[in-house]
Amino acid sequence: MKKARLAVLGSGSGSNCQSIFDAIDRGELRAEVVLVLSDNPGAYILERASRYGVPTELIDCKGFKNKFPDEAQRALAQKLLALGVDLVCLAGFMRLVKAPLLEAFPRRILNIHPSLLPLFPGVEAWKQALEAGASESGCTVHYVDAGMDTGAVIMQARVPVEPGDTPETLHARIQVQEHLLYPAAINRVLGEHE
Ligand code: GRF
Repeated sequence: MKKARLAVLGSGSGSNCQSIFDAIDRGELRAEVVLVLSDNPGAYILERASRYGVPTELIDCKGFKNKFPDEAQRALAQKLLALGVDLVCLAGFMRLVKAPLLEAFPRRILNIHPSLLPLFPGVEAWKQALEAGASESGCTVHYVDAGMDTGAVIMQARVPVEPGDTPETLHARIQVQEHLLYPAAINRVLGEHE
């Protein structure tokens, strides 16, 4: 069976990208990460990828702080198609993906989000859960569509909110589950594409 070719996009620490590398190394994910990309030159995800021996690239967002310009999405789609990428995994990527990429990779772009979607889409979802007084939270891997954290859910994992939780302690508890969930969800999607 051929190994699936993954591209990972992230803007920050890349601990979820690391969990994908680790699952591959443990033989739990029959895939290879062929490229890691970031819109943030200082993102630690780039260092993790280089240490692991995976090529990295910066996404040029033309000076926009939050926007992911269409021309940059088109160029990225062409690059990923040329590399024979099967799945695009967003892992802490802070820009919205739109038509040029979505149309190039239908049902082949995944995201991990730190809440039980549809609850608490958007930024700092763990903080939103605490502020809402939720008794549990968790994480979701979902297909990416043109909305913000609105695509079809693939898998979820739950964690309790403990008395005395701070945003940091809750996020750390969620991240433990994220690192198990993302490789498992990628496996499920790859199984469906076979
Ligand atoms: C994770 O909590 C993920 O759910 C969210 O952004 C965070 C990224 O963390 N989308 P990392 O960069 O993978 O460590």
